[in-house]
This record gives sequence, C-alpha cells and structure tokens, in this order.
Amino acid sequence: MSYLIQLRDAGFGYKSGMLKKQILYQINLTVNPGSFTVMEGSNGSGKSTLLKGILGLATLQSGVVEKRVSRRELSYVPQEFHFDMTLPISVKDFICYSSGNRISPKELDSFLQLVGLEHKKHEKIGSLSGGQRRRILVLRALIQSPKVLLLDEPMANVDTDSQKHIESILTDINLRQQVAIIVSSHGYRWSVDYEKILITGGRTQIFPKH
Ligand SMILES: Nc1ncnc2c1ncn2[C@@H]1O[C@H](COP(=O)(O)OP(=O)(O)OP(=O)(O)O)[C@@H](O)[C@H]1O
Ligand SMILES: [Mg+2]
Repeated sequence: MSYLIQLRDAGFGYKSGMLKKQILYQINLTVNPGSFTVMEGSNGSGKSTLLKGILGLATLQSGVVEKRVSRRELSYVPQEFHFDMTLPISVKDFICYSSGNRISPKELDSFLQLVGLEHKKHEKIGSLSGGQRRRILVLRALIQSPKVLLLDEPMANVDTDSQKHIESILTDINLRQQVAIIVSSHGYRWSVDYEKILITGGRTQIFPKH
C-alpha cells in the first residue's frame, strides 16, 4: 500500500533563539490511507508536538518527514482555538469564509447536518457552547476534503453526547472515504478499532490494531 506520510527516525522540538529544546526522539510512523491512529500520553509528553511536527509547526531536529499529501489535503483541528466571542458573524458565514467561499449552500447544509448543528446555522458563532464550537472546528477541517486529518484532543471539554457524535463523524469519514485519522486523546475510550501510539519519555511505542 502506498503511504501518505512517513516519519523516519524523526526528532522534534522547539527553537528559541540559539536554544534548541528536543521533545521527541527517533519517531517512526507510517500513515496509510484509511488508518485510524490514537495517540496517548500524559500531559506534556509530546502529543501536540508530534502533530505539529507532522504539520511542520514544530522543528524537525533529525530524521525525515516524508509527506505525499499537499498542505490542503492535510487538515488540522488544534487543541486550543480561541474564537472571538464578540465576533458578530453567523455560523453559516464563518464556515463559508473558512472555506474561501468555495462551499455551496447545499454542501453547507449537509456538513452542518453531519455535525448535528443545522439548527445553529444563523446563530452567532460566539453563542455556541464549547462542544458545539469543537464540532464546528471538525466541520471546518472536513470542508477541504482532506486525505489526512489530525485532531488534537477533540474530546476535551466536550460532553458525552458530543464525544459520541464526533467519534461517529470520524469513524464515518475514515471508513467511507478512507481519510487517515490521527487523533490525540486523553482518557476517552474509543469504540473503533485503532492503532495506538503511546508517547513516554520522548519516544513512541506503537500498538497495532487487534
Ligand atoms: N512552543 C513551544 N516552545 C517550547 N516548548 C514547548 C512548546 N510547546 C510545547 N513545548 C514543550 O514540549 C513538551 C510537550 O508539550 P506538548 O504540548 O506536545 O504535550 P502534550 O502531550 O500535547 O500535553 P497535553 O496533554 O497537556 O496537551 C512540554 O514540555 C512543553 O513544555
Ligand atoms: Mg497537547
């Protein structure tokens, strides 16, 4: 099978002036179409750093990151995202602007339906709850029809119903469209069969699907 992304002995960290800080060492990872990978590890272990490393947002300090997908085919839902709650913009307009106005009204409706927020279409983005905002971010990441979707803690601060909803969206696009998913997650019990990456001491341990 032809892989989409491969990390070979990759080391990642951050640079600040002359100082280099290495967080992850010798990471080997292959992302295939249709794969579902859950990344676990304690706070500060480097889950976000690994996702950022794949995106090129953390510094590659050794090894290789080979991407056979374009930037557009790689979608990312960050762990932290600050909406300007006072922004007088509707959900509909937020999504349209985020897509560069490339989305048709029909597509917009079906995306909103997918995340269960069709009834919020005309509401102000700032009036959404935390879990609803998280679903909008997932929606925004899906609009660009990615081949690989990276999600950083999408289940954090989200109620059980929203968690189930997000999981079913991810499972659906993973199975039907073969979108490769890498998700960092802390304590959520996924029902889907997945490959697990455990990060400890700056290194990864990989547990294949059952
Ligand atoms: N921009 C940055 N500059 C310098 N160090 C950073 C930066 N971002 C993260 N770190 C450091 O990298 C290490 C790993 O952080 P990271 O955010 O990847 O962990 P995490 O596993 O995602 O944690 P959490 O579960 O809290 O989200 C931490 O020691 C953190 O202080
Ligand atoms: Mg993190």
